[in-house]
Amino acid sequence: MGYKYKELGLSNTREMFKKANTEGYAVPAFNFNNMEQMLAIVEACAEMGSPVILQCSTGALKYMGKEVTPLLGKAAVDVARAMGSDIPVALHLDHGPDLAAVKTVIECGFSSVMIDGSHHSFEENIKVSKEVVEYAHAFDVTVEAELGVLAGIEDDISAEHHQFTQPDEVEEFVTRTGVDSLAIAIGTSHGAHKFKPGEDPKLKLDILVEVERRLPGFPIVLHGSSEVPGKYIDMLRQYGGEISDAIGIPASELRGGAKSGVAKINVDTDGRLAFTAGIRKVFATNPKEFDPRKYLSVGKEEMKSYYKTKIVDVFGSEGAYKKGTR
Ligand code: G3H
Ligand code: 13P
Ligand code: ZN
Repeated sequence: MGYKYKELGLSNTREMFKKANTEGYAVPAFNFNNMEQMLAIVEACAEMGSPVILQCSTGALKYMGKEVTPLLGKAAVDVARAMGSDIPVALHLDHGPDLAAVKTVIECGFSSVMIDGSHHSFEENIKVSKEVVEYAHAFDVTVEAELGVLAGIEDDISAEHHQFTQPDEVEEFVTRTGVDSLAIAIGTSHGAHKFKPGEDPKLKLDILVEVERRLPGFPIVLHGSSEVPGKYIDMLRQYGGEISDAIGIPASELRGGAKSGVAKINVDTDGRLAFTAGIRKVFATNPKEFDPRKYLSVGKEEMKSYYKTKIVDVFGSEGAYKKGTR
């Protein structure tokens, strides 16, 4: 049994992106895999008055299940309203592989989808993205597609090198597919190891500027944008974790984009690091603890407080809507 997203109180991304581009901020798109991460995200965004896209990968959907996931989306809306905030909440499929995956999540109650045809040829990417747009728009579900390939791992697909987006392809792609937003590759990548030690962590901002010139006012999306905070790398190591050469995207590289055409910035790894660092701390400092509420709540609060700072430092979306309190 599925839902229509509007019945769940969810929003698609159309108005969110219009307001974000007009007012010069980006909408946070945070991945979640369980109730605690969903609460960390929605409480952070409601307290800051920031719109939010709750993102779910196909792996996360498999983990939480089709029955639970849309109801966590509904719960996020209900929590924000109970806190007195009017922020819009979208439930979005991250890196949808094909039309079948898109059909499944729209039936579940998702309000927004990504079709990731970035590994196909230009023509095949246009074909699959257009098919998804035709299907999704009939349900008033918004569609993100991707041009260019990020290095790193996206679900089961991994690419060793970046293929930066070619600005001279974007107008044709957007016109022929009818997509609502476009993810581009400008040097970000997924995971905790975005640059090699000694490398300058810089993005190809000239590509972004050229894409924005060719698509004025059109919502641009950046994937792989975690900052990989040193604070959490240190904390993980301090409490028994192992992680080497972890380097992310400095907030300063993203902030300029958020002020212009970048309407959505994807962050997953930062939340995973903060959540796990919090849990490790409890396990290491109190080995007798075995009540899940006692360690999951610490992970959740760590993730929530970090996302609140990120809303200010990276997204600039604080106060776009009414703030709430817990
Ligand atoms: O883009 C990838 C996201 O970080 C989701 O990762 O497939 O491990 O859930 P996942
Ligand atoms: P990070 O791995 O940088 O958090 O990127 C997440 C992402 O792009 C999800 O689609
Ligand atoms: Zn991604």
